[in-house]
Amino acid sequence: MTESTKYLLSEDRLPKAWYNLNADLPVPAPPPLHPGTGQPIGPADLAPIFPMAVIAQEVTAERWVDIPEPVREVYRLWRPSPLVRARRLEKALGTPAKIYFKYEGVSPAGSHKPNTSVPQAFYNKQEGVKRIATETGAGQWGSSMAFAGSLFGLEVEVFMVKVSYDQKPYRRALMETYGAKCIASPSNLTHAGRSILEKDPNSNGSLGIAISEAVEVAASRDDTKYALGSVLNHVCLHQTIIGEEAMMQMEMADDHPDVVIACTGGGSNFAGLAFPYIRENLKGGKTRVIGVEPASCPTLTKGLYAYDFGDTGKLTPLVKMHTLGATFMPPGSHAGGLRYHGMAPMVSHVKELGLMEARSYHQTECFAAAVQFARAEGIVPAPESSHAVKGAIDEALRCKAEGKAETILFNLSGHGHFDMQAYTDFFAGKLKDNTYAEADLKAALAELPKVG
Ligand SMILES: Cc1ncc(COP(=O)(O)O)c(C=O)c1O
Repeated sequence: MTESTKYLLSEDRLPKAWYNLNADLPVPAPPPLHPGTGQPIGPADLAPIFPMAVIAQEVTAERWVDIPEPVREVYRLWRPSPLVRARRLEKALGTPAKIYFKYEGVSPAGSHKPNTSVPQAFYNKQEGVKRIATETGAGQWGSSMAFAGSLFGLEVEVFMVKVSYDQKPYRRALMETYGAKCIASPSNLTHAGRSILEKDPNSNGSLGIAISEAVEVAASRDDTKYALGSVLNHVCLHQTIIGEEAMMQMEMADDHPDVVIACTGGGSNFAGLAFPYIRENLKGGKTRVIGVEPASCPTLTKGLYAYDFGDTGKLTPLVKMHTLGATFMPPGSHAGGLRYHGMAPMVSHVKELGLMEARSYHQTECFAAAVQFARAEGIVPAPESSHAVKGAIDEALRCKAEGKAETILFNLSGHGHFDMQAYTDFFAGKLKDNTYAEADLKAALAELPKVG
């Protein structure tokens, strides 16, 4: 068994429940606040944009939340996803470390995102919703929501960050193949989009702006709700299926990780793999847990832990998180899904409690790591996932330098088949390590809402 490369669970071992870390944390995460009153929000505040089942999951104190059977049925199209021992990468690095990766690129949309788009579509359908408005960065989430919408008979409208809309036309085509409508953001369809375009007609867009557009559409139409692909508690909850499966698979491998690594955009694939291990750590486990983010948008490593809006248009409730400021415009990069000013409140809270580490890398060193990985293991990582690959390779090289045979587990959150232009640019030496201006960061942080 220990000589195996892939550790595969049979469908009957597909987890029956998602795991809620909130139930086990020594201190509860600070609640979201109403921006007008400064008081904790209640379900009624969220009802215009989310179905009640999702709102209930957002605030649940239950440790385990049952996965509905129709959702498990769809999950079985690609889950349980494989756990792979990266033996060829180990050899290429000459490291005594053992490297495993959980591969989420096997989903129909190519990433971990359908783990939450499917239940979100299911709950919306159950409550009679007809349309979903959402945003997407690089297109992974938009295509995942489009896929889930097609299975449950929902119309899906996706506001796609302009820079990615231009860079990744085939992601757009994939959304359209699933029957969704894809619009470049900022657009002139919404008040939020128009006000950005008035100030900057050439705006590249950002996730913060696209969220404002989608929330505005959902709030202004009775038949439409909003779906978010990351950040919120219910999204982190749905993603824990990754870690729950990985734990069973590591047991099959007769091994246990010393280090767990995932990239962090809004924090959901990290939460998905890491939260079950943090549960273990709270009971005496010793696994190091590392989130990896882009140096051009370093939310966990350079942001403030403060109440802020989740979107640029300031339409969302205030959530306590690591933030670069809701009006911060991260420089363009190919890891569009990591270009977000904030972080999941749960992940931020875990960081504040000292239960995780964070580090940042520039995009060219991540692409170099992704190419090394592809040449050893065959899979071309998504630019977002390449940050986790770089983190894992650095840990493996540390083990080599220290002569330690540690076990490293990382999440390969998606494949990069729609990102080949980025690879082409990398090979042509055209990729830049964009940095933000400190003055822009300062200005965005100066606009943080005052919370009493
Ligand atoms: C492949 C992939 N990995 C990671 C992310 C980052 O999101 P999160 O931090 O919520 O997992 C994205 C977001 O679009 C993505 O597409």
